[in-house]
Amino acid sequence: MSPKASGSAIRLSVPSIGLEEEQAVLRVLRSGRLVQGPEVEAFEAEFVEATGFEHAVAVSSGTAALLLSLRALSVGPGDEVLVPAYTFIATANAARLAGATVVLADVLPDTLNLDPESVAAVTSSGTTVVIPVHQFGLLADVPAISAAAPRASILEDAACAAGICTAQRSAGRLTCFSFHSRKAMTTGEGGMITTSDSELARRLRRLRQHGMGEEEVEEAGYNFRMSELAAAIGRVQLRRLPGFIEKRRQVAGWYAEGLRDLDWLILPDSSDTSWHAFQSYVVRTTSGAPVTREQLIEQLRSAAIECQPGVRPVHQHKPYGESAKTPLPVSEEAGNTSVFLPMHAELKREDVKRVCRSIRSLTLGSGLDT
Ligand SMILES: Cc1ncc(COP(=O)(O)O)c(C=O)c1O
Repeated sequence: MSPKASGSAIRLSVPSIGLEEEQAVLRVLRSGRLVQGPEVEAFEAEFVEATGFEHAVAVSSGTAALLLSLRALSVGPGDEVLVPAYTFIATANAARLAGATVVLADVLPDTLNLDPESVAAVTSSGTTVVIPVHQFGLLADVPAISAAAPRASILEDAACAAGICTAQRSAGRLTCFSFHSRKAMTTGEGGMITTSDSELARRLRRLRQHGMGEEEVEEAGYNFRMSELAAAIGRVQLRRLPGFIEKRRQVAGWYAEGLRDLDWLILPDSSDTSWHAFQSYVVRTTSGAPVTREQLIEQLRSAAIECQPGVRPVHQHKPYGESAKTPLPVSEEAGNTSVFLPMHAELKREDVKRVCRSIRSLTLGSGLDT
């Protein structure tokens, strides 16, 4: 029942949506209750059960989750929020829109997650929150990051890490998930915030709904509610999530088999796949590579294989041109060399072989494709 790649194209990302999700949506449509009702409540309870956090608050997107979390931590003008320079722009935007100053730290070359040494170097007395991102689904070393900024609250951006970021593995006060359609589990658009702090959970629920308390509006809030339709899909997807992640790890294994001997390509860190959800599969060309990143992209696209240049570092986006206070060489290098390859649970072994063949053909005959 899942949407298939059109023609012989291999899609970058395809959501795995089946009959159960269709039936869940129909059930809600026929119920007469479309927003913030029993499906949302059940989804939150089931997310708590699955992750081990004490509270889960469903919201309209991963970006809404980040912004709401910063507001719940009372972040505002005068605060510095530290984010990795190599992350999707939503992480920085949430901090900026909360009124804080965005401070950028570099990432580690092997994992592309926050580098604790860089965190220590840019942390100041005004740094109230650090946002470690579990980049592309690989869990960051949050205890080490937290130790590098001991006075700051930790807000984990687990947009790409649903299914592996659990209470046991988490050291943040709040953890934010995204259910955008490119993520391992999806609700179309959607997000979740987890915490084991009851007071924060209460404030998140209030801010999600215009700042309304039991009796009256207690502070200015948002409409970041999740729809019943999204929650009903999310409940099915949550049950299927372990299977999706297993399949993504299998796909990552197929890529590694097909590409690991190419010394001009850096593959994702898969030393312990139990720490990786493989929300995306991002490869990087080495500095001495015989082909450029652009040639790699062109080759794949000409073979009807969807791909994308990797994340552009935050400070290379117009609104953040002034945010780099220290050199950020690893983020810049990753920004120049990374490529998203197709990654989803509908990929077949033959698809992955075709992607690998296409990549290998770039150096075929040059003596570099061994
Ligand atoms: C690291 C990271 N943070 C935040 C977000 C924002 O999530 P959403 O698209 O659900 O708003 C994303 C989405 O791709 C992301 O990759």
